[in-house]
Order: sequence, then C-alpha cells, then structure tokens
Amino acid sequence: MNATATLVNERLAGSPTIGVIGLGYVGLPLAVAFAESGATVLGVDVDTRRVTSVASGVSFIEDVPTETLGRLVREGRLAASDDVTALKDADAIIICVPTPLGKSKEPDISHIVSAADSVAGIIHRGLLVVLESTTYPGTTQEVLLPRFEARGLEAGEDFFLAFSPERIDPGNRRYTLRDIPKVVGGLTPACLGLATTLYGRVANEVVPVSGPETAEMVKLYENTFRSVNIALINEFAIMCRRLGISVWEVIAAAATKPFGFMPFYPGPGLGGHCLPSDPHYLSWKVRLEGYEPRFIAFADEINRQMPVYVVQMVADALNDRGRAVRGSRILVLGVAYKPNVADTRDSPALEIIDTLLMKGAAVAYHDPLVPDLSVTGVEIHAVPWPDAELASRDLVLVLTAHTTYDWAALVRDAPLLIDTRNATGPLGPRPNVIRL
Ligand SMILES: NC(=O)c1ccc[n+]([C@@H]2O[C@H](COP(=O)([O-])OP(=O)(O)OC[C@H]3O[C@@H](n4cnc5c(N)ncnc54)[C@H](O)[C@@H]3O)[C@@H](O)[C@H]2O)c1
Repeated sequence: MNATATLVNERLAGSPTIGVIGLGYVGLPLAVAFAESGATVLGVDVDTRRVTSVASGVSFIEDVPTETLGRLVREGRLAASDDVTALKDADAIIICVPTPLGKSKEPDISHIVSAADSVAGIIHRGLLVVLESTTYPGTTQEVLLPRFEARGLEAGEDFFLAFSPERIDPGNRRYTLRDIPKVVGGLTPACLGLATTLYGRVANEVVPVSGPETAEMVKLYENTFRSVNIALINEFAIMCRRLGISVWEVIAAAATKPFGFMPFYPGPGLGGHCLPSDPHYLSWKVRLEGYEPRFIAFADEINRQMPVYVVQMVADALNDRGRAVRGSRILVLGVAYKPNVADTRDSPALEIIDTLLMKGAAVAYHDPLVPDLSVTGVEIHAVPWPDAELASRDLVLVLTAHTTYDWAALVRDAPLLIDTRNATGPLGPRPNVIRL
C-alpha cells in the first residue's frame, strides 16, 4: 500500500465518513449498519421523498426499524441529502442504485452512469468507491473507472475502486447483513485491501476475489442459480399436477437427503428487482462475445409462464363449479413478490390480477403491507380486513404467504381457495383447497 492507501486504511478502520448513494432496499440497511459501526454516514438519493423520510428518521424499508433510524439520525450518525456534493469529503462512497432492464431485456445502467458521473464530479485523492448494484461483468472497469480517471487521478494510487455485490435477502431475519459473507473484488490489491477494511466494519466475513469482474459474476451466478432452480421446480409442479402427485410432498421427502440436494419451491412466478432481471445482464454481456446462453433463456421462459398457468388454474377451478371467470368475485391474498415485505416490483400478482380483470372477473385484493396497488396504470386499494367477505367470494387466490394470515380461518371461511404457496399445506387435504 502506498502512503495514501495506508492513511485511508487507518481512517476506514477508525471513524470514517461514508457516503451511500441510493437509499433503497440495499442502501438504507447498509447506511444504518455503517452508522451503527461508528462511522458517520451520509445517504444521497435523487428521490426527495426518501431523503426527507430518512432525514426525519422515518424508515420505509421493513428491515430498518424507524426506532433505529430515528436514533441514528438524532445522534448525528446518519444524515440524508439529495445533493451528491455533500459527499465531497467522504472517505468512501458506496453506490447502491437500481439496475433494471430496458424494453428488450437489455441492461439499463443509466442509474449507475448517473451516480458515477456525480461521484466523478467530487472524486478526490484517497477516496474509495465501491459499486454494489448488481450488474454485468465489466461495469466497474468499463463504466466507473474511465469516468474517475478522466479527472486526472490514478486508480489504486490516488483513488480506490472495487465491486462488492449486495447479497441481502429483504425480510430475512435469520441472515442479516452481518451474517452474510461480503464478496469483494478490488481493481488493485490496494483497492481490495481498503474495501476489505471497510466491509470488515459491518460483515463478519469478507471474501476477497481476484477482481471486480469476478465479484460481478459471483452475484450473477447466485441469482441465475436461483432462477434456474426455481424454473426447474416450477416445471416439476406442472408435471406433478398432471400426474396427480403433490409437488410439495415430493420436495419435503427429497429434502431429507442429507447431501447433494437443496430444496426450491414453486410459485406463481418470479418477482422483485433481482431474479427476473439479473440473469439477463449476463445474457446480454456474453451475447456481445458471440455466445448465446441457454439455461437463462429457458428458465426465464418457464418462470414467466407461471402467472399464465395460475390464471388457467383459476379458470379451471371456476369452470369445474359451473362458473366463468367473467363476473366471478375473486379475492387475491398477498401481492408483494414474497412474504413479509411490501415490495411489489415485478410481482407476478400484477400480471395475474391484470389478466383476471381483462377476462371480466371482479378482482379485489388484500395485502397487510400493500395498501394500494397500481395494475397497468389503474390504482386499486386493498380491501379492509377482516371484512374481506370471504364467504361470498367465488374464489380466494393465495399468491403470497404473509405470516400474519390465519390459514385455518381462511380455509374454513373461503368456499374455494387456490393456494400457490402451500401455505395451507400443514392443514392437510381439504375439498375446497387446490394447491399448485
Ligand atoms: N432489493 C434486493 O433485494 C437486492 C438484493 C441484492 C442486490 N440488489 C441490487 O442492489 C441495487 C439496488 O437495489 P434496491 O432494491 O436497493 O433498489 P431501490 O429502488 O430500492 O433503491 C435504489 C435507490 O437509488 C436511488 N437512485 C437512483 N439513481 C440515483 C442516482 N443517480 N443518485 C442517487 N440515488 C439514485 C433511487 O431513487 C432509489 O431510492 C440493484 O442493482 C439491485 O439489483 C437488490
């Protein structure tokens, strides 16, 4: 390490000032973790509502209690701004902005580019910059590095650059940020060393890899692994239904194998900011190199068919009772893409509700965490609970198994229930319940 790096290392290990760009599901918990570690944290976001909320100590992310955020803000450990120049004296800046897909499933890295341009405007000697957004291999070197070097500074000597994928699982209380090993790839050994010191403050284990591209690829492998295995079990669910076998019973029994097996579970489709999008970042990148990836496309095809499959289950179940979808009163339970979070980004519930509405069903929904939902531009409000009139619904469709639901009461009161998550499984077979 040169003299600059040694000095920065000391600061990062002591009481540094850390900037976090992007105060969302990833950035806010990270900002809180660093503030709890004794750093002074300044969060920056272009969304002024989020900035105001953080600055007033009110959390909008389930994993960050308002109590904790409020305390850190009051103690002066955490502040928020919509102006990146507030980070001009930071020791480290971590970028956690969204990485969505464009219309043709191509990477939309415009948020990374814009954040990188902002950082380039304030980059200074000794600054460590880490990108955490999930992205294609090469982004750190090809998009961030040239912007920073254009300011006349040299990476690894004057400033430091690394990629470290965020691996948190929102809503997961068992594995928190501290428990999840932090993979880090630095542009140079000094970059890696400083990023390791930085993350050592908030993670029990830091896993160094040989460079930013490897760290970028690690995240894409993890998410492609999930996407492919979910597609496999989704197809198993379809095959099991054809054969009159419970896929849930198959998974439970297979999971007793103590080695070489890891259970995945079927559902109404992939959702959230990550799994439906991330593997396409990789496809896009390798396609540029003349290779057409097959697993990613195939898994995507199966997973994207699941909402259609669920709508068909609804139509079949109503048909068996002499009813059409048109005019049926359907109640959807759970619209977030997974249990106990309020995140509806890319949730399969959106497509399922939209399709049922287009077919003429009278669809209402309830979700304890999502009071309003926008389905193809139309605002729908959640029906109040417990007045959801279960008994008068033609069909109740469970899409997200929030733990607050009383499954026994639902099975008792709903005349017909389709359960795409096996939330009612422990109650055993019921004549009014159809499971995926
Ligand atoms: N949500 C997850 O579970 C999860 C898990 C691991 C990794 N990731 C990855 O982390 C990244 C962030 O995801 P997220 O879920 O936190 O997104 P998010 O939408 O919840 O938060 C991103 C925030 O960045 C802000 N932003 C956008 N452009 C900005 C800019 N130029 N300057 C300042 N702020 C800007 C947005 O206003 C938003 O508040 C993505 O690449 C995602 O794939 C997400």
